[in-house]
Amino acid sequence: MNIIVVKNAEQGAKEAFALFEKAHQNGAKVFGLATGGTPVSLYGLIRESALSFEDCVSINLDEYVGLSKDNAHSYDAYMREHLFNAKPFKQSFLPDGLASEETEVARYERVLQENPIDFQLLGLGTNAHIGFNEPGTPFTQRTHKVALTQATITANKRYFEKEEDVPRYAYSMGLQSIMDAKEIVLMAYGEKKANAIFDMIEGPVTEDVPASILQTHGNVTVIIDEAAAALLSSENQ
Ligand code: GLP
Repeated sequence: MNIIVVKNAEQGAKEAFALFEKAHQNGAKVFGLATGGTPVSLYGLIRESALSFEDCVSINLDEYVGLSKDNAHSYDAYMREHLFNAKPFKQSFLPDGLASEETEVARYERVLQENPIDFQLLGLGTNAHIGFNEPGTPFTQRTHKVALTQATITANKRYFEKEEDVPRYAYSMGLQSIMDAKEIVLMAYGEKKANAIFDMIEGPVTEDVPASILQTHGNVTVIIDEAAAALLSSENQ
């Protein structure tokens, strides 16, 4: 893993943008995209840039089950607000939160097979989940329906009016689907991510720590601020 430690999220966004731009210049056509608070500043830089995605495809990691794309809390709405309205892609795929599990899992895997991901962006859950792949998810898992853990519901309630409003299930690309990406860039900021960052980088590769699978991928860059890097041994800081 290539580890870049920055002062703050703003610096991190610049580093991530440089990698995004380089991939685009080198001909990447399929971008795997993430939601959450972490990539917001990166999407801001992309919106302000001269990059065009009119011949590119985007594939998002996940979506809440039960939310329509018009629901303001859906990841579909998030992506339009933060990126797609300003930078449309030729085609943008997100799981459909209203579709049945059987239909959606099959459709999304077809999308991934037809559009292999060149560049995948990731955030990190406080329990080291990536996408919505919670601890215990098999490393061989492909797109699936996930029951969110209490830790994730608690972490994500800040985006909703109250905890009861947080959906209990999501559709997510699986860990194997993520590992198929040619290049992966993971960003994580703040003290609350420090444990997950330590486990991901320096702990054993185990299904209890979903992000630890990234240790076995050949092209991963991790962009973290000093607070998220605090528990790492000195050679990784
Ligand atoms: C959510 C998303 C992840 C995201 C993570 C961190 O549950 N499914 O894709 O990376 O949590 O979110 P944040 O960036 O808001 O801390």
